[in-house]
Order: sequence, then structure tokens, then C-alpha cells
Amino acid sequence: MLNTDEIRKEFPILGQKVHGKPLVYLDNAATTQKPQCVIDAISEVYCTINANVHRGVHHLSQVATEAMEQARTKVKEFIGAANRHEIIFTRGTTESINLVASSFGGTFLKSGDEVIISSVEHHSNIVPWQLLRDRIGISLRIIPLTADCRLDIEAYKGLFSERTKLVSVAHVSNVLGITNPVKEIIDIAHSHGVPVLVDGAQSTPHIKVNMQELDADFFAFSGHKVYAPTGIGVLYGKEKWLDAMQPYHGGGEMIKSVHFEKTTFNELPYKFEAGTPDYTGIIALGKALEWVESKGIENIAAHEHELTRYAVEQLRGIEGMRIFGEPDGAAVSFLVGDIHPADLGTILDHLGIAVRTGHHCAQPLMELLGIPGTVRASFAAYNTKEEVDTLIKGIERAVKMFA
Ligand code: ALA
Repeated sequence: MLNTDEIRKEFPILGQKVHGKPLVYLDNAATTQKPQCVIDAISEVYCTINANVHRGVHHLSQVATEAMEQARTKVKEFIGAANRHEIIFTRGTTESINLVASSFGGTFLKSGDEVIISSVEHHSNIVPWQLLRDRIGISLRIIPLTADCRLDIEAYKGLFSERTKLVSVAHVSNVLGITNPVKEIIDIAHSHGVPVLVDGAQSTPHIKVNMQELDADFFAFSGHKVYAPTGIGVLYGKEKWLDAMQPYHGGGEMIKSVHFEKTTFNELPYKFEAGTPDYTGIIALGKALEWVESKGIENIAAHEHELTRYAVEQLRGIEGMRIFGEPDGAAVSFLVGDIHPADLGTILDHLGIAVRTGHHCAQPLMELLGIPGTVRASFAAYNTKEEVDTLIKGIERAVKMFA
């Protein structure tokens, strides 16, 4: 059980008023707020150990390097990876997926090859593959949706051909809050000898992920959705793939030796970490994951699932309510009557309630659903049932205004 009263005290931003009303922050799928310990970790780096990592014999550089590498160990443990060198630091999920599209694609894919993605993908797991398609002539196969907004696994099984080279799917839909059966998706792909990239942006904050159990070949997530700062993220990759893949960016720490005639590349993970890394963000990410562990990810998940269940139940009582799919995670997307999602979002904002509205960077899914967008409420460890009640009252007020 989480003590949300105590947890809320750790998040300075939550105490403020917006438009004169207490802030009700329900846009956690876009980004989470940060606990004081994470905010402190950032200023501690600059107050005590700031120096460029992996580059100096001097004391500060060594301490900063050690702190950054400890955070890598924390990430490895948090996601149950086998090896530290399989943890690559990136700017976020988007960069992680672009890295795989560019480096895995550049190494293993050629014209005519196929990549399978799904109908619920975020643009970050669509556009990198389209860029690769335009560059080298691959094609995309799309896992369709069932009537209840789930991935159609039977149809997925039929998408494989001898040209299929990769499957890349979201663990949890950022729009629908529905968890995809990624273990099954991975097992099916592996039975065809095809590796799988899992977009874990919306699962890592809410589900205990374990690379050994999932057996994903690649797994991407963002720090800022899991209580860490913006601008830092992770790509996990199995050593056998990362070793064989060409580098992504050139320069900085990713080299072993450089001559005008030829450059040799550093070992993993540094081969994929060109330039000065965001060691401050990495250290703060380590702190954020420690914070999650101190509360227990299972406790956080149970709390969020209860909030989602409660929100869905309350939302269903509103006339004209349309909920998309049966969310099992920490987000719910809906529309009410013919109120435009942006109008509803604006009214809620004036009541101090922050929700996301629009296409949620998933325009193809909106097209499939035949809607311009939705209103999405998404939950984190610090949200409460009272906040859900405030949301419901806010929606009811908006409905009256538009009646
Ligand atoms: N991908 C983030 C969201 O779903 C920004 O809101």
C-alpha cells in the first residue's frame, strides 16, 4: 500500500495552485513530476562532483564517472538485464528507437525487407521506420486492432514472411492504457527467428519489467516518465545485436582510435555513447529508480490500477461517455458526446486539472478509431481518488456548459 499523503509531500510542484485551484496533475503519461531527492541529486552533481566523465585522471572526473556508472548498474538491475554493457544511455525512448532503426537497420536490413509494427504505436515507433523505408526501401507491416482496441494476435501471426527482419511494438499504448501481450509477441517473433524491440516508455514506470523473462532483443524507455529528469533515456540491447551493429553517432567516447584513414570503435556500451553524456541526468535517473524501488513498483502499479479502475467506473456514469478500449494500466482515453477534446481540456485546465488532449502522437490510431483525438487522464504514484473525483466533477461541469 502506498501512503500517498506522504508521497505527495516529496513532490514540491504538487502543492501549487493553477488558476486559483489546487493542481490536479493527471498528465503523467506525458511526463511525471519529480521527487525532491531527484531534484536534489541534480543540484548535488553541480555543487559537489561536476566534471566530464571518462576523460580525466583528476579526482572530480573519477567521482563523476563512478556515480554515472553506478547509475548504469542501477538501470541494469531495475530492468533485469544480464549485463551492464547492454545498457546504452540515450536522450529518451525516441532516440533509442531511432538508434535501432539507424544502426540495426543499417547493418542488417536491405531493400525489400519488412518490419512489423502495430496500430497503436506512438509516432516515435513509426517515423524512424518510415525514414528507413525511404532510405533503403524496406516495407512496414502493421498489426491490426480487434473491435475492443487490442492487438489482433492471430492477424500478427500471419504478417511474417521470410523478409521479416524485426518486430517493434509498444509494451503499453500511450493512448489506450492497454498492455500489449509483448511476451507472446516476442515468442511468436522468435519462433520465426525475428528479433523484437519493445517500446517501454509507458510500461517501465508502471510494470516490473525484466529483460531475462521478456527476452526482448531491444527495450527502450525514457527517464522523465519514471520520475527522472527530461533528456535522459535508455536503450537496452542484447550484446549479440549491439556488438554486430554499426555505431549511431560518431565522436567522443565511442572511439578506440582515430586516424584519417580509419577509426576503430570502443567496446559496449560506449560504442553507442558519442559525445559528453548527460551524466547529471543519468545520476538523477539512478536516484529516481531508487525512489521507485523504495516505494515498490508493485505497490505503485497496484495503486495506479486501482485509480484507473475507479476512474473508468466513475467516467462510465457520465452521459455520452465513450472510453476507448478497456485500460488495464495507468491511463484512460475518452470523449464525451460531441465536445471537442481541446475544449474539454481547456475547461478542465481552468479548474486546475491537467490532462492531455489531442492525438497523443498516435495519429494513425486516431484514424483507425475515426476520431480527431481524445482526452487522456493518466496516473502516477502521487495521485489520489479525490483527484479522480475532482476530474469527474470537472467533466460534469463541462457537460452542463455544452448542453
Ligand atoms: N509520449 C508522451 C505522451 O503520450 C508525450 O503524452
